[in-house]
Amino acid sequence: MDGRTFVFVGGKGGVGKTTVSSALGLRCVADGDRTLLVSTDPAHSTGDVFDQGFGDTPQPVEGHEGLDALELDPEEEVERHRKQLRRELGTQLSAPMVNEIDLQLEMAHRTPGAYEAALFDRFVEVMRSTEEYDRVVFDTSPTGGTLRLLALPELLEGWIERLIDKRERSIDLYEKAAIGRQTPRRVAEGDPILARLEQRREKFAFAGETLREESSFVLVMNPDTLSLRETSRAIDSLEGYGLTVGGVVVNKVTPEPDPHEEGTGATYLRARCESERERIRQAREELEAPILAEIESRVRDVRGELLADVASKLDRRTAVGGAE
Ligand SMILES: Nc1ncnc2c1ncn2[C@@H]1O[C@H](COP(=O)(O)OP(=O)(O)OP(=O)(O)O)[C@@H](O)[C@H]1O
Ligand SMILES: [Mg+2]
Repeated sequence: MDGRTFVFVGGKGGVGKTTVSSALGLRCVADGDRTLLVSTDPAHSTGDVFDQGFGDTPQPVEGHEGLDALELDPEEEVERHRKQLRRELGTQLSAPMVNEIDLQLEMAHRTPGAYEAALFDRFVEVMRSTEEYDRVVFDTSPTGGTLRLLALPELLEGWIERLIDKRERSIDLYEKAAIGRQTPRRVAEGDPILARLEQRREKFAFAGETLREESSFVLVMNPDTLSLRETSRAIDSLEGYGLTVGGVVVNKVTPEPDPHEEGTGATYLRARCESERERIRQAREELEAPILAEIESRVRDVRGELLADVASKLDRRTAVGGAE
């Protein structure tokens, strides 16, 4: 299989991530890749695009042989995450401890980042269980946080390591206090919190490696100054983390009016096209990643036939995350 298995489609809110990732899914199956589309949009827009409901396990997309989709609901993920932690700890700790921890977990899950942390865990689970697919396309959620979090497993690994270290030391201290001057017993071995931390460390290591070695990022932008600036920043930060940016898809490009058309509408469109062309030229020159496709603005929302049409505009490099 050529290219990278995991393709993350990113970009600011509303630029066309869901559209491009859905079209990309079609493009991949047209090329013969068994493909999984993963969405994290709470608005279930992938479902809208295909006019079909999806759940949190892969389901065939009707009418598109070889394409499966799943939609993760971040809110549900946060809740599921909390319940699972509680269950795991519940088997190992006393009831009052569990209640106390549950309270803390609940608080922790309301803090900023909890959402992303839960999603991150699910992303990792998905990445771990996709052997049957040639390609997995992630439609990253509009809360730019997901992308940032994905870029950070290394930092997280370091952070977890410090937590592990702290936990080990506090177990030692506790033991010393409890048994006086004797050497502390190695209770650390059966410590549930420590085990949990070790598990997370392993998870971050896996995620980091998979993201660096087997994934690539495709960024969607619109042909305007703000979007260009955002995209440039996103490329810099992703590459700064050692991740591969396969390229950029420019979406919602205004179609040129026919030469004989006149009137205010046509004049407006020409001026608009002119400035968009300038932005695209600038993007080609300044961005540290290739422009993989330019997709025109359509009159209607992109689904059905239109989606197939958009898919046909994406070249193979988009599907394989920018690899030639
Ligand atoms: N090329 C296009 N022509 C016309 N409409 C488009 C085009 N691309 C996207 N749209 C429409 O614009 C809206 C936003 O697109 P989309 O949902 O793909 O963006 P998004 O980046 O996923 O948004 P969000 O950040 O909210 O998840 C949708 O209604 C979609 O149908
Ligand atoms: Mg979307």
